[in-house]
Amino acid sequence: RGVNNLGMQGHDKSDKRVCVGTVQEILAAGRKRTEIADRDIVVIAHRGNFYALDSFCYHAGGPLHQGDIEDMGQEACIVCPWHKYKITLGTGQGLYMAVDPFNLKKQPELKSKGVKQRTHVVTIEHGQVFVTLSSVDTKLDSDHYNCAEYRHTFNLG
Ligand code: FES
Repeated sequence: RGVNNLGMQGHDKSDKRVCVGTVQEILAAGRKRTEIADRDIVVIAHRGNFYALDSFCYHAGGPLHQGDIEDMGQEACIVCPWHKYKITLGTGQGLYMAVDPFNLKKQPELKSKGVKQRTHVVTIEHGQVFVTLSSVDTKLDSDHYNCAEYRHTFNLG
């Protein structure tokens, strides 16, 4: 997935994109937490690609923007610092290693719980990074935690 084809969900052609910083700045820092329309977003640069996700974890609101990045199979994931859930950067799927309780000798298998974390579209133009919020109507688990109410309730700044 290239820099102009990230985020994957609901690219809104009406161009409500917001500039979140320069390519140089985000590449140097590796990530940037920001707010767009009262939504908490983290923009991540990883192996030359840019991704944008809701910044609080779908599981219980952990600070994903402070998580490490790890590969699970072919997928780059952010690992939530609270309970170590792994979320794909590109599509927001929750991944896990499934163990067969009836056959413990079997190698654990990589599985997906489906899309749990909302991802947003990233575009690059003239050295600037833009994020367009996802316009997918389906409610996702991360929606609960990525709003002003959650931020203010827990004094997250
Ligand atoms: Fe992220 Fe629990 S809050 S794994």
